[in-house]
Amino acid sequence: MRTILVTGGCGFIGVNFVRLLLSERQDWRVINLDKLTYAGNLQSLADVCGHPQYTFVKGDICDSALLDRLFREQQIDTVAHFAAESHVDRSITGPAEFIQTNVVGTFTLLEAAKKHWAGKDGCRFLHVSTDEVFGSLGATGFFTEETAYDPRSPYSASKASSDHLARAYFHTYGLPVLITNCSNNYGPYQFPEKLIPLMLNNGLHGKLLPVYGDGGNVRDWLYVQDHCEAIVRVIEQGRLGESYNIGGHNEKTNLHVVELLCDLLDKKVGLLPSGQPRRSLISFVKDRLGHDRRYAIDASKIAKELGWLPKVTFEQGIEKTVDWYLNNREWTASVTDGSYQDYYQKMYGDRT
Ligand code: NAD
Ligand code: TYD
Repeated sequence: MRTILVTGGCGFIGVNFVRLLLSERQDWRVINLDKLTYAGNLQSLADVCGHPQYTFVKGDICDSALLDRLFREQQIDTVAHFAAESHVDRSITGPAEFIQTNVVGTFTLLEAAKKHWAGKDGCRFLHVSTDEVFGSLGATGFFTEETAYDPRSPYSASKASSDHLARAYFHTYGLPVLITNCSNNYGPYQFPEKLIPLMLNNGLHGKLLPVYGDGGNVRDWLYVQDHCEAIVRVIEQGRLGESYNIGGHNEKTNLHVVELLCDLLDKKVGLLPSGQPRRSLISFVKDRLGHDRRYAIDASKIAKELGWLPKVTFEQGIEKTVDWYLNNREWTASVTDGSYQDYYQKMYGDRT
């Protein structure tokens, strides 16, 4: 039996993780703490909100009094820490929130765990991080767990800071910390500001598809369900104080991904009303500032030590993702027009 605090459980990966736990870990109690920023959508978990294993709490990971109450009242023994500001472009135009949530928030959470877990056995604090902390690769090579940190955007710098804090709490205080650094996730419930859902949404509505720079930047795509399974495995079997890289072995240029999405949409919903294929919407735009060229993960440590391998190929995952977005157009509409933000008020009123 575990009582797990999932932070950011209403975001993209968190929603998929909460769903996985409720279906595959019947003896875990799940407390989802989420501030419901623009990226957090309570409606994504509407069908599980009455589940006996599940509790939702609206709140900020920077609120130490709230964390104190939750750790004490709920007897939390496990943390899966997803909550973050996660979009690189937003970190370029407004880095302050990234420092607050990703650095100060992680620190506040580590402090709460340290206070409440003193003298307790079996606790686990899993900090979810990104491969972006390692910087940018050239044409060859992979990030391993030994690669030196070299973050280059305000987002990745804030995640690197939080990784260092998490590791420091293991070494200094013996907090039972585990860290995962994963590559770009894709799949259901991803907010349509990130590459794949943005292109799907624009492509469906016949809007331009903005490809940054020459479209030759490479990302290593990981299906979100595979990522969530890896996280459960690290919580259950990972060695304390270690970090594990998680990747899907799917290096693709952005242009390749966008063209594939165009072709899939054409096949599934037909050509544009003008009779043109969706590739005609591709528009090369000014590059992102400091745009990292290539990410690629060496995930052999988690494979060797914990026996985890991704199950979903890129071709399968992208097909499932396109189908999910086609079948859930009202989800995308509600998160892009902001109407999902009324849902909390309807469900919970003023309660926190
Ligand atoms: P997301 O932006 O979709 O969701 C973030 C969630 O955190 C939202 O529900 C938001 O409301 C919540 N949140 C934000 N600030 C908060 C605060 N102060 N207190 C409580 N809740 C808060 O992010 P995601 O894509 O699901 O990413 C989850 C984690 O995985 C992040 O830590 C991110 O850095 C990491 N990660 C993501 C990817 C990816 O491809 N999506 C890749 C590598 C690592
Ligand atoms: P993104 O989904 O923002 O993830 P990250 O920056 O964390 O890797 O972007 C993935 C890649 O796609 C990245 O190289 C930037 C590029 N990109 C575009 O070309 N156009 C877009 O509109 C977006 C959002 C991203």
